[in-house]
Amino acid sequence: CGIVGYLGFRKAYPIVINGLQRLEYRGYDSAGVVLTNKKGMQLYKTKGKVAELKKLAENKDIDGNLALGHTRWATHGIPNNENSHPHVSSSGNLVIVHNGIIENYNTLKKELLTRGYTFKSETDTEVLINLIEEVKTTNNCKLGKAVQLALTNVVGAYAIAVFDVTKPDEIIVARLGSPIAIGIGENSQEFFVASDASPFIEYTKDAVYLDDEELAIIKLGRDIKIHKIQDDSEVEPTIQELKLNLEQIEKGGYNHFMLKEIYEQPNAIIDTYRGRLLANNGIIKMGSVDNNIAKFLNANKIIIVACGTSWHAGLVAEYLFEDLARIPVEVEYASEFRYRNPVINKGDVVIAISQSGETADTLAAIKLAKSKGAFVFGICNVVGSSIARETDTGAYTHAGPEIGVASTKAFTTQITVLTLMALKLGNLKGEISNSRFHAFLQEMTLIPSKIEETLKISSEIERIAAIYKDASNCLYLGRGYNFPVALEGALKLKEISYIHAEGYPAAEMKHGPIALIDESMPVVIIATNKGHYDKVVSNIQEIKSRNGKIIAVVTKGDTTVREIADHVIEIPETEEAFTPLLATIPLQLLSYYIAVMRGCDVDQPRNLAKSVTVE
Ligand code: G6P
Repeated sequence: CGIVGYLGFRKAYPIVINGLQRLEYRGYDSAGVVLTNKKGMQLYKTKGKVAELKKLAENKDIDGNLALGHTRWATHGIPNNENSHPHVSSSGNLVIVHNGIIENYNTLKKELLTRGYTFKSETDTEVLINLIEEVKTTNNCKLGKAVQLALTNVVGAYAIAVFDVTKPDEIIVARLGSPIAIGIGENSQEFFVASDASPFIEYTKDAVYLDDEELAIIKLGRDIKIHKIQDDSEVEPTIQELKLNLEQIEKGGYNHFMLKEIYEQPNAIIDTYRGRLLANNGIIKMGSVDNNIAKFLNANKIIIVACGTSWHAGLVAEYLFEDLARIPVEVEYASEFRYRNPVINKGDVVIAISQSGETADTLAAIKLAKSKGAFVFGICNVVGSSIARETDTGAYTHAGPEIGVASTKAFTTQITVLTLMALKLGNLKGEISNSRFHAFLQEMTLIPSKIEETLKISSEIERIAAIYKDASNCLYLGRGYNFPVALEGALKLKEISYIHAEGYPAAEMKHGPIALIDESMPVVIIATNKGHYDKVVSNIQEIKSRNGKIIAVVTKGDTTVREIADHVIEIPETEEAFTPLLATIPLQLLSYYIAVMRGCDVDQPRNLAKSVTVE
């Protein structure tokens, strides 16, 4: 879910509504806003997107300098108007927006019911605001204190923002497990609250990111005060300067963020390796790896934890680290790893991969690994995110903000970081000779232009998309380094076009999926010239002899596959270890065009959220 709030001298409504639109990637089942003005509280909320909310509030009273807004990804209670945030306490005085889950809400609700509280929604959030009200009334204390005390009774995860309608100069925010940023205007004359800084970057560059178990009291004309939730002790706020600019989070002429982000990949990869890949000197410089080099070189094994697309980047890394650096690798879904008492030995290195740096399961996996004494290295895109802070050290991907819910440039830049690490370790371990290492580095500098080349054939891919847009199933196959690429290709199609798609290692096809193949089944197969090419060609023959339709991603100049496949998409030749960086691109474009042709909401596919801060 996304939270936005404003307190200051400007009209709050437009700031909050625009901010919610920027945060829609976090969830868009329903949206709401609460304002206060001379006439009292104005509350608008609705099922659906922020656009619906805007319509609802049209010609209504939207005056006021204090507002909180919310865009929801449903956890407790279906997406409907009642369950939408903001929620109001029984007295009608306190309002809240919440991101996260209150796990013990049922117990708390029962207690509150016995004390006469009534509930309009099925949400855990309405329970929390009533709990805050109950604590405030019983202790006759200020709102900040009441929120702090109430939260000591809460089990779960949250980022919340609360205000009292009768005291419109103050907002209380708190966090445990879900991010929250506070933007500070000049002389504390205005404040912004948001799940990330994007809603307020055009107003201020000064931001405070709350840490877990912290609560902030934001009052007009005064410095913010931060307290620890458990013991109420005060914490000095750390003000950070935001590097983000508005242009980075706007569509820049593209129809969708996803397309923009696909096209940004050449530059994003350059940004990822800038300062790290010093090809002419034959060096890979990565501070966080260099400073911990012994841990990596002596690692018995590397355990990679991640979710979704980041997990696929982890699978590519398994091939990279094992092939190039001869370090055994295990790749784990963070959600499975955290709950299965994993064996972590001294000397194991854990790498956590996450675009957002906020994924709840990945964060929990990191905490578990740390509690077992592991050294944890993070690969994140969002600077200052929870995972970036929780890991012992790590490397940012520097891909720039990724807004499209389906991940694209985050994936290829994660692979870039992992490739640099594997090359460096391989060379230091003597597994890659110096001359070979130099050749790898030179080739890496050519990857961005090779991606550019691939992007140029987008109209061919669009033509193929038009042929298969009505398919109901699709199979993606690859071997070796390109097996994870097949998984990622299938995930992209599934996520944004709602076509059922499966990725498989090409040879495993005969152990199941082959039963599905007939003339209406498109099979996307990565058949680049290095790495088991002949075997893949045999797999293509097997599909062909069952009348499957073949879309093959091949190396430029390929003739063998061209003769058998229904369609070929050419990518430039590169090192086998680098093919995932190129082969991914046409698959992203294929799913993009198919989704657009099917009229799907590419940037905000149904039921998905970009940043999953609940487990
Ligand atoms: C969500 C997103 C995916 C993403 C996954 C992991 O499911 O929709 O695109 O790959 O979370 O997110 P992370 O931010 O940890 O990489």
